[in-house]
Amino acid sequence: MKKGILKTAAAVLLTLGIQTGASQAVAQNANQIVLENFNGKKVLVVYFSHSGNTRTIANQLRDLTGADVFEIEPVTPYPSDYHATTEQAQKEIRAGFQPPIKL
Ligand SMILES: Cc1cc2nc3c(=O)[nH]c(=O)nc-3n(C[C@H](O)[C@H](O)[C@H](O)COP(=O)(O)O)c2cc1C
Repeated sequence: MKKGILKTAAAVLLTLGIQTGASQAVAQNANQIVLENFNGKKVLVVYFSHSGNTRTIANQLRDLTGADVFEIEPVTPYPSDYHATTEQAQKEIRAGFQPPIKL
């Protein structure tokens, strides 16, 4: 359980460091935490990215840890427009619809 929390914290730190363009020291610290917790272990990063930010982070985690990466891709892509996507997603959630994904 403790290890799980550490791993989650490491991933969140790394994500925050990248997304906020945090100082180099913070980014290095996040990288160090990731290496300490994941190095030499089998890691699978599964992600869904609409705009590409999460893909960038997933690939950075892959590069840091040697993880396998799997991108969740819907069979029917979401619209590129942000508001159209959130409207569609809200309707899908309300309807309990789970979009088919590419396997
Ligand atoms: C249509 C849609 C559905 C999403 N579904 C989930 C989900 O089920 N679980 C989750 O943790 N994140 C979900 N997300 C969040 C994405 O995984 C991602 O974190 C978000 O789109 C921001 O990253 P991006 O800029 O790379 O798109 C969803 C995003 C979108 C647009």
